[in-house]
Amino acid sequence: MTNHTPRVFSGIKPSGGLTLGNYLGAIKRFVDMQAQDFETIYCVVDLHAITVWQDPKELTDATREVAAGFLASGIDPSQSILFNQSQVPAHAELAWLFNCVARVGWMNRMTQFKDKAGKNAEQSSLGLYAYPSLMAADILLYHATHVPVGEDQKQHVELTRDIAAKFNHDFKAEGFFPQPEPIIEGPATRVMNLRDGTKKMSKSGESDMERINMTDDADKIAKKFKKAKTDPEPLPETLDGLKDRPEAKNLVDIYAGLSGLTNEQVITEYAGAGWGKFKPALADLAVEKLAPISEEMSRLMNDKAEIDRILGEGADKAEAIAQPILDQAYDITGFLRSRTR
Ligand code: TYM
Repeated sequence: MTNHTPRVFSGIKPSGGLTLGNYLGAIKRFVDMQAQDFETIYCVVDLHAITVWQDPKELTDATREVAAGFLASGIDPSQSILFNQSQVPAHAELAWLFNCVARVGWMNRMTQFKDKAGKNAEQSSLGLYAYPSLMAADILLYHATHVPVGEDQKQHVELTRDIAAKFNHDFKAEGFFPQPEPIIEGPATRVMNLRDGTKKMSKSGESDMERINMTDDADKIAKKFKKAKTDPEPLPETLDGLKDRPEAKNLVDIYAGLSGLTNEQVITEYAGAGWGKFKPALADLAVEKLAPISEEMSRLMNDKAEIDRILGEGADKAEAIAQPILDQAYDITGFLRSRTR
């Protein structure tokens, strides 16, 4: 049971639109891994989205929009499984087992919960607190071995490893759940807010000017980069020169992420350049890379039935992998099988 096939699982929440952070930190990497020697499973994690209130009407379309973002960026349903989480009930079922394996002390260490709940922890949903346990279920339900994510999800993947190890140990099922690896690679694993380089770019940030949305048009993209906060210095000669310059570093990371160059190569190309030169070059590059994706997203969004069909087929394929693993987990736990499926 210890030899697990190389299998990738990752997910994105349909809570608001997709950002450049989601694209560079996650989706672009998902497309790269699809082309490598992995089985790839990608999920629109709608169960995770509702840990914070979502308007039901908006949730339905946000789910389709994230799916459209995956497809428009190059996720191919004939090569990857693409589905929305709520359609495979095994996720919620395994999450319950993990709620009984994970310790309250472990959850209390999760920095994302602290950030999201803030001073209002008492008023947060119980789901927001248990969120990482559902995420562990997502990954382990497929015996996934590799989990491409942005930097902010690292702690959750590490917790997933702890949950897997404790389950295997407590039930004497050595090797049943694998130890999945977080894959946090590329030059833009933490894209920062364009107005404050010390904060992460997120879908839920207050001002639209602080993020690039994958659906922004060319004018908006140019305007947002033009107004992005920077410092008075030109770009340095070496990467070291970006130390303590969070906004400058962020724009260089974004340029590298979009162009496929390394951060070093970008610095070499633009050494000594002022923002008057770098920002328009960045905006042009972003438009060149993002415009075809956003056009394809709107085309796909005009055919909702097609998106629903793709997600539905993906859910069938996902369930075919997940259900036998959940059944084994139930057997390991000792649940009486009183019905025959
Ligand atoms: P979510 O929906 O917040 O983000 C989706 C993915 O995008 C990455 N990301 C970023 N990367 C770089 N810079 C940024 N500013 C940025 N913002 C977001 C995230 O790291 C993530 O990879 N809990 C997850 C969803 C999830 C999941 C899973 C992921 C649920 N189950 C199982 C992997 C495996 C989340 O909230 O992602």
